[in-house]
Amino acid sequence: MKIRTINGVDVRGKYVLLRDDFNVQIVDGEITDAFRIEQSMPTIKMLCNAGARVVIVAHRGRPKGVRNMEYTLAPIAKYLGIRLIPDCLDKEFLGDMRDGDLVMLENVRFYPGEEKNDPAFSAQLARGFDLFVNDAFAVSHRAHASTVGVAEILPSYAGILLASEIEHLNAVMENPARPLVSIVAGSKVSTKIGVLKALAKLSDTLIIGGALGTTFNFAMGGRVGNSLYEADQKETALEILEYARENNCRVLLPLDKGVAKVFERDAVRENKDFTQIQDDDVIIDAGIKTTERDVAEIKKAKTVIWNGTVGMAEWMPTWSYGSFALANAIAEQTRAGKLESIVGGGDTVAALEACGVKDDITYVSTGGGAFLEFIEGRTLPGIAILEDM
Ligand code: 3PG
Repeated sequence: MKIRTINGVDVRGKYVLLRDDFNVQIVDGEITDAFRIEQSMPTIKMLCNAGARVVIVAHRGRPKGVRNMEYTLAPIAKYLGIRLIPDCLDKEFLGDMRDGDLVMLENVRFYPGEEKNDPAFSAQLARGFDLFVNDAFAVSHRAHASTVGVAEILPSYAGILLASEIEHLNAVMENPARPLVSIVAGSKVSTKIGVLKALAKLSDTLIIGGALGTTFNFAMGGRVGNSLYEADQKETALEILEYARENNCRVLLPLDKGVAKVFERDAVRENKDFTQIQDDDVIIDAGIKTTERDVAEIKKAKTVIWNGTVGMAEWMPTWSYGSFALANAIAEQTRAGKLESIVGGGDTVAALEACGVKDDITYVSTGGGAFLEFIEGRTLPGIAILEDM
């Protein structure tokens, strides 16, 4: 697969519609994690320095086609120090733009045509522009007007971030240094069936943790108390284990858990294995034995792919124990030059950040759902449209 990239394209004086993913967490009007924004900066700077007239189109949250100011992009425009155009279909401001200027359109999901990939909406959005650049890997699994519709109308290219995501993720999937250990956690089996199977096929060892792991423990007859798990995914879990066996992938399930009597940040932590868990116990984190075993696996690995925290990592320090131990072990091995590490998913990246080790990781993806679909080997429509025939 070869995609068209913006490198080398003459953009001077051109009106460039740039799709970024600025779907970042904002609390009380303040951006709490600017990772996606910072990763988008190389393309923004490159286009502006090359004399393009750049208009960013982006979304935030799921306002469902309605102008709901809870999801305004204003805090992001403020962060970037640029003007926010309240109406995505306004074209008047284009006439005032000079070479190198940068502005941003308000949340494109305020329009019902966006998520429907409505051709009339795409045509209105594309009007007035010379080129389209997609740098929003994290939303490229959505066939929306601002990812696919406009790319069907304008000459379109991948930005630096999108090209880099594709390159790094392809490299690990095509030719990983072995042993390859994949760690998949998070809450739902139902959302991760595809990626679990893909990683079972690719990996030497697959570690399954978090509430996802609890569902597997339940499927294997373990006691899970009053914890979050999916009883209706028992057969799926067993099927994934069988699939892994057929593909010679060793699967490691949780051995023990950090539990409490209530699902609360300040709850008293106990460590229990699956025979000790009581009906009123709630699993909130990975256990000590599990964590020690997983850290030992990381130390033996040459490649690690990690998606999903193994507990409530944001409830520091009591419940971040398991996730932070993994983050630190992966970072340490990578720093020592012994490991290639690939991490994706908002919560997982936040855990790296909280541990202060994000910069040690070989490649941190900006994608959540897009990361999973890419690893799964699915065609991402926002990328497919940029492929050379
Ligand atoms: C993300 O945050 O993963 C992307 O921005 C996609 O958001 P969505 O799941 O609401 O389409």
